[in-house]
Amino acid sequence: MQATARAHTNIALIKYWGKRNESLILPTNNSLSLTLDGFYTETTVTFREDLTSDFFLLDGEPVMGEQYDRVQAFLDLIRREYNIGQIYTEIKSKNTMPTAAGFASSASGFAALAGAATKALNLDIDKTELSRLTRQGSGSACRSIFGGFVEWEKGEAEDGSDSQAVQIAPSNYWDVRVAAVVVDAKMKKVSSREGMKRTVDTSVFYSGWLDSLPQDLADIKAAIRGQDFEKLGSISEANCLKMHATTLGATPPFTYWQDSTMAVMQAVQTMRDSGIPAYFTIDAGPNVKVLYLPEDEEAVMNTLKNLPVVTDVTLSRSGEGISYV
Ligand code: DP6
Repeated sequence: MQATARAHTNIALIKYWGKRNESLILPTNNSLSLTLDGFYTETTVTFREDLTSDFFLLDGEPVMGEQYDRVQAFLDLIRREYNIGQIYTEIKSKNTMPTAAGFASSASGFAALAGAATKALNLDIDKTELSRLTRQGSGSACRSIFGGFVEWEKGEAEDGSDSQAVQIAPSNYWDVRVAAVVVDAKMKKVSSREGMKRTVDTSVFYSGWLDSLPQDLADIKAAIRGQDFEKLGSISEANCLKMHATTLGATPPFTYWQDSTMAVMQAVQTMRDSGIPAYFTIDAGPNVKVLYLPEDEEAVMNTLKNLPVVTDVTLSRSGEGISYV
């Protein structure tokens, strides 16, 4: 009973920022992402009768603490949901991105884990069901089951049975590129889980965020349909700024940005002023992702790599959904 799955990370252009049900991981709003080919997690899961607990190795190191607890809780869910009994697993994962530096390694991580575990068990489930299962490990991970542009439908059902990702356009539909710009690869202080909870519970700006989302979603889907890059980029950038604004209205207030984050944001806006259509988006960390078109790759790269605050830049194209190795 062993299988290996590979899942790519995704970058949200319309952010998931808040849960209506924390244990089932049901979001307050639909979100929309692009799956990236540059960053992935490859995970091998082996169910072994001789083990007395789950064992998790990440990049060759045993994982303990909170990260282990989340993985173990997710395996318990799989064992419960599919009546597996008390058979424990050995999990071996490899990441191609700095863990917890705002590069959503939990997205590719839980997608690969869900894919490998269900494959190892020979469960006959389709990608939609796999997405619903993956969601319960980490919300944004449910989008990584699919490639290209993906929407996570929040759903209405209280049991989460209609909260799942759907593909909007496959990875070969439109060659939009993303530069992942690292300014600080240290672990973040406020996890996305904790940050969104504090925002939902306390931010005076949260209702404004929610009110503006249906329009953002309709606009970005129109931009994808029409392959209108300036529209796609400007909606993504504005949606990111709004999400980050909600954290400033929370109690206690917080921000994921550092000086270096703002330096990259300003460099992107300066590029735009000089006629290069580039746009930024930022998740729950200090690092920045920059959206651009293939013909501007050299100019965008040169600008980003020459910024003193930047320690690393990695390019991604639109990536595929989950695959089995
Ligand atoms: C800012 O999916 O990491 O990246 O569901 O609690 O595991 P949990 O949170 P997570 O949150 C991601 C938040 C975000 C925006 C996004 O990816 O949509």
